[in-house]
Amino acid sequence: MSVVSNLGYVVFGVSELQRWESFAVDVLGMQLASRSTGALAFRMDDYCQRLVLETNPIDDIVAAGWEFESETKLAAFVDQSQAKGVILEPMTSELARRRKVEGGYSCSDPVMPYVHEFYFCPEMPPLNSPFVSKHLKSSFVTGPLGVGHILPVTRDLTKSMNFLVDVLGLRVSDYIREEVGPGFVIDATFLHTKTGRHHSIGIAQAELPKILNHFMVQVADMDDVGLAYDRAVRAGCHFALEIGHHPNDQMTSFYVRSPSGFNIEYGFGGIVIDDATWKVRRYSQLSDWGHRRNVSPAEHPRNV
Ligand SMILES: [Fe+2]
Repeated sequence: MSVVSNLGYVVFGVSELQRWESFAVDVLGMQLASRSTGALAFRMDDYCQRLVLETNPIDDIVAAGWEFESETKLAAFVDQSQAKGVILEPMTSELARRRKVEGGYSCSDPVMPYVHEFYFCPEMPPLNSPFVSKHLKSSFVTGPLGVGHILPVTRDLTKSMNFLVDVLGLRVSDYIREEVGPGFVIDATFLHTKTGRHHSIGIAQAELPKILNHFMVQVADMDDVGLAYDRAVRAGCHFALEIGHHPNDQMTSFYVRSPSGFNIEYGFGGIVIDDATWKVRRYSQLSDWGHRRNVSPAEHPRNV
């Protein structure tokens, strides 16, 4: 079975491009890669782009870009997916140009209104144009592990899981089930790709206004989490979750509200799975310390 290599890029539809530009560059530490009519792209490493924003009032995820190591592996994936009844459309040359990939395919998510894109051969910038962050002391953790992870919600967990496992070839990392408030249970499943980032996608069944709960970016030095946290405080950002630690992927992170309303998890220390020795577990806590909820800028201890 030909399976996806990693989650290589994400595309969000956003209503306020200008606010997003300063948030991505000056809070998250990304590099503006390109600005065109109705779109922005950002670099996080030696790829031409990892995060793409398109003007769209939905303020939500538009596409998840799944990378393959070669055109041959992508072609085998397309054949086996179509045999399973999944309808994959070839990317137009215009879309491939915008995504800065050699080529690919796309299909609608089987449950939620966003798209999965499958591509090979991402474009690299010239050698004399290395990734430069105005703020990072270290770097984003990307490369073969991909851009980070996403946590979309689904209205049909069984259907979503069938797609992620049987079509994309993802593997379950673990589960977390916690009653976070009276009668309000979060039951999330985390899945990894063959390159082993603890999860490239986490999924939970919920009826919420937005598809995307959060997008996670990981940095290579804990200081960069603290420095980004201070930049977010200074920028007056709302923290969905203060700094804390997840028991499953071992990520120390905070969750800051993006200009689109969904959250960005900014973390350090996420583990990489070796399938030869990995054991799937069910955890009873989303966080084993910290991650205090809903701290507004006005009540933030650094602002009083
Ligand atoms: Fe996360």
